[in-house]
Amino acid sequence: MISAIVMAAGRGTRMNSKYAKTMHKILGKPMIEHTYDVLEKIGVENKVFVVGYGREAIMNHLQNKVQYAVQEPLLGTAHAVMQAEQLKGKKGKTLIINGDCPLITAETYKLLLKKTTKEYPLVVLTTVPEDPKSYGRVVREKEQLIKIVERKDCTEKEIEIKEINAGIYCVDNELLWKYLPEVDNNNNQKEYYITDLVQIFRKYGHKVMPLLIEDSEELQGINSMSELASATKWMQMKVNSHWMEKGVNIIDPERTYISTEAEIGSDTIIYPNVRIEGKAIIGENNVLTEGTYLENVVFGNNNTIKCSRITDTKIGNDVTVGPNAHLRNDCVIADKAHIGNYVEMKNVRFGHDSKCAHLTYLGDADVGEYCNFGCGVVTVNYDGKYKYHTEIGDHVFIGSNVNLIAPVNIGDYTVLAAGSTITADVKKGDLAIGRVRQEIKPGYGFKYLNK
Ligand code: UD1
Ligand code: CA
Repeated sequence: MISAIVMAAGRGTRMNSKYAKTMHKILGKPMIEHTYDVLEKIGVENKVFVVGYGREAIMNHLQNKVQYAVQEPLLGTAHAVMQAEQLKGKKGKTLIINGDCPLITAETYKLLLKKTTKEYPLVVLTTVPEDPKSYGRVVREKEQLIKIVERKDCTEKEIEIKEINAGIYCVDNELLWKYLPEVDNNNNQKEYYITDLVQIFRKYGHKVMPLLIEDSEELQGINSMSELASATKWMQMKVNSHWMEKGVNIIDPERTYISTEAEIGSDTIIYPNVRIEGKAIIGENNVLTEGTYLENVVFGNNNTIKCSRITDTKIGNDVTVGPNAHLRNDCVIADKAHIGNYVEMKNVRFGHDSKCAHLTYLGDADVGEYCNFGCGVVTVNYDGKYKYHTEIGDHVFIGSNVNLIAPVNIGDYTVLAAGSTITADVKKGDLAIGRVRQEIKPGYGFKYLNK
């Protein structure tokens, strides 16, 4: 059985933020969820998250997908692990994970698990970063880890050590709980350090392995906003390289942000300053131009999205959207539709080859095929208390500046004259006109202007 203890109770003082450190996002997803996702991916059965500072937000986010242990007060990393009492008495291996190390890949965790054996019941991920900063220093003798010394407890000589502790461990669960009570707080910070396990394991004759990982950036801990930014950059480049290898044309990968959940087909062109968050499935040959923001979308192929915001929406094939359109709340846009500039749609089904080119709001509406909307059409869907539905058939021609007072039903092959306020249903094949008749007052124009 594989278990994991994720330590996420700390405040993250160096972040200078009022939010729990692990709720800060990387590519739109909290650090803590990156960690959760990778544990899920490698099949960890028991996932215990140790929470303390800002725990409501973390628990709200991960809900009952994991188990929680509350740490209060915060007395150090070993003290955090001690709170995960759910795991006492269980057999198998336990991963102990710093909550602020969200970049570690499934492959690295799998290697760590593999290296943890009867001979080496405790394995520690280590790396050699460019700058060893405040990381714990790794004292090794060949293949054996002797001890980890926190930066603040280092001798001058130890500070010079280049290999550091990444804060990720794998341990035999029964031995973990056997030796945890021996960790004390005899150090400069008066904290219970999980790193003390190394010497305790050795004292009882167990070997401890430092597992050196080449890519120190993958192992980086996030303690400040600038480290959050560099972690984001690392993940951004990893995701973008992956999609470029699959044939996605990312014009400027430095300025393109794609979530780890997105899928993108080849020959889709992504211009700079595009952001894709959440689950997004985007087919082939789409064009996403500057300033486009997508979240939870499913697109077919050959669509062009110009500088628009689209969330929770499905789009078929050969659709054009924008510039500056806003589609949200469960819109479904059929093939060949055209949605032009400054159009907002909310909860709308928009049919095959229908066109809505300019300055329009459609909310809570079903629109059939081959319809044409003039400029400035509004579905008046809200009376201040309730929202109402608008139903529009196929082949409907709607002139400019038409208001449809919902609920209202517009039949197939109908015409709504420009400037009309439509308050009653229109039957198949009819024309509706509802506007004030024009009066002419001869010569009044001159009179007025001469005043
Ligand atoms: C820790 C390691 C250090 C290592 C580094 C790697 C210890 C003593 N030190 O230092 O050797 O090089 O990580 O990034 O373990 N936490 C709790 N409860 C606590 C204290 C911390 O849950 O009482 C959590 C924090 O929320 C954080 C993680 O444990 O997610 C690590 O704590 P942090 O204070 O960042 O440790 P470092 O000083 O970075
Ligand atoms: Ca840290």
